[in-house]
Amino acid sequence: MFSKYKKPSATPPAASKEAAPVADIASAKPAAAAAVTRKAAPASSAQVTPMDKERKRKERMGEIKLDLHRVLLDNLNLSALEHATEQDLRQEISAISSEFLEERSIVLNREDRQNLTSELYDEVTGLGPLETLLKDETVNDILVNGPQQIFVERSGKLELTDVTFKDERHLLRIIDKIVSAVGRRVDESNPYVDARLKDGSRFNAMVPPVAVDGSLVSIRKFKKDKLGIDDLVEFGAFTEEMAAYLQAAVATRLNVIVSGGTGSGKTTTLNALSSFIDNAERILTIEDTAELQLQQTHVGRMESRPPNVEGKGEVSPRDCLKNALRMRPDRIIVGETRGEEVIDMLQAMNTGHDGSMTTIHANSARDGVSRLENMIAMAGIEMPLKAVRSQISSAVNLIVQASRLQDGSRRMTSITEITGMEGEVISMQEIFRYQRVGLTPENKIIGHFTATGVRSAYAERFRMWGYDLPPSIYEPIAAE
Ligand SMILES: Nc1ncnc2c1ncn2[C@@H]1O[C@H](COP(=O)(O)OP(=O)(O)OP(=O)(O)O)[C@@H](O)[C@H]1O
Ligand SMILES: [Mg+2]
Repeated sequence: MFSKYKKPSATPPAASKEAAPVADIASAKPAAAAAVTRKAAPASSAQVTPMDKERKRKERMGEIKLDLHRVLLDNLNLSALEHATEQDLRQEISAISSEFLEERSIVLNREDRQNLTSELYDEVTGLGPLETLLKDETVNDILVNGPQQIFVERSGKLELTDVTFKDERHLLRIIDKIVSAVGRRVDESNPYVDARLKDGSRFNAMVPPVAVDGSLVSIRKFKKDKLGIDDLVEFGAFTEEMAAYLQAAVATRLNVIVSGGTGSGKTTTLNALSSFIDNAERILTIEDTAELQLQQTHVGRMESRPPNVEGKGEVSPRDCLKNALRMRPDRIIVGETRGEEVIDMLQAMNTGHDGSMTTIHANSARDGVSRLENMIAMAGIEMPLKAVRSQISSAVNLIVQASRLQDGSRRMTSITEITGMEGEVISMQEIFRYQRVGLTPENKIIGHFTATGVRSAYAERFRMWGYDLPPSIYEPIAAE
């Protein structure tokens, strides 16, 4: 019946092939409806582009999927799902879908049928449309701006994907599935939530009406193999000389702060730096979402917890930190310092837990110090500014700046030592920096790392601890 309708020569051949599955659905419609469609067809088919057809086909597939999903939920024994093997479940889904399609006389080609089964499998067991992106190893971040727009970050660059949700309800259902799995809730009265996915990925969602154009979801994917020092050197994040310096700094127990913007590589840098810690030391880590993967044997990991729906049960980073100090740590690593825990962090750094590390959100070493000052002020500590600064300058030895440059590359743009106080001001000296020299026609940044010519204030300490860095390490590289 439909092949007759398909005939008009105005329809491009490729598109008509693509349209085949949709056509069969139309054939299942009552005759009257089909007749109406048939009449309208010749006029409109002239303007229908292959893209329109593809979009229509997708919409139709989306509808089939949605109906089928409902049928699946009615037919599958959900409590048994947890124990079913993947193969069994796929077979079951495939059988139920075949029955469904047959009942409605919908014919799909083999590929569409396979895609349908695997999308439904993702829908039932996983995170629906997001599942393929989660499995894609090249994707670092997944950013959802409402149901129709999903971006991913690959090698530092954002790309729009053709993955979409059916509608806001579909997106909300997936969000709900994620957060309820970790015992949280998200709705109009609790419009945002932070959670960790089963695979360790970091998840944040904000739902309407606070999110104006549909729910916003951000996922930072968990990497099983975190980038190590060698990888970072290879990627050009810093040089071997800088790595040697950082090794000396961490091994000789300087207190280090990694500063940087959002997604600039702070956690990655912190994790890589931790590899220089001696295996005999007891390390305690405190994070909002456990991301660090330390290689040492003696590691105690803590995860702070926000209040529950009733506003109870919060365990703040500061609570963890205070408790950590009673747990006989050699070093404490705080994933990110952003609030009142700064006081305890600085105190820990000042009182025998040398070699502690954390990250802060700041754009330069100087900015990082102001940030620390602000955090102290916000925590309600009444202390003269000079005393605050002197506390910071005696606690922090090194600020390492991580940056994501405009071409997407991530680099350690500066390594700065804090050397003390000069009057009311904290004195600092930059040891290494990234020198930008220009831009290629493809908008890639041209630049190189260089020492600044200033010798480390800790050179003697390094030597005493057996890290005798050659003086040449501090020599600047002349610009090409
Ligand atoms: N030098 C690098 N080269 C390539 N990719 C990198 C580099 N450093 C980090 N990445 C990748 O960039 C992403 C963001 O890194 P990371 O989580 O360390 O950033 P962050 O500054 O801690 O982010 P946030 O502010 O969200 O906590 C990760 O997927 C990480 O693997
Ligand atoms: Mg981080």
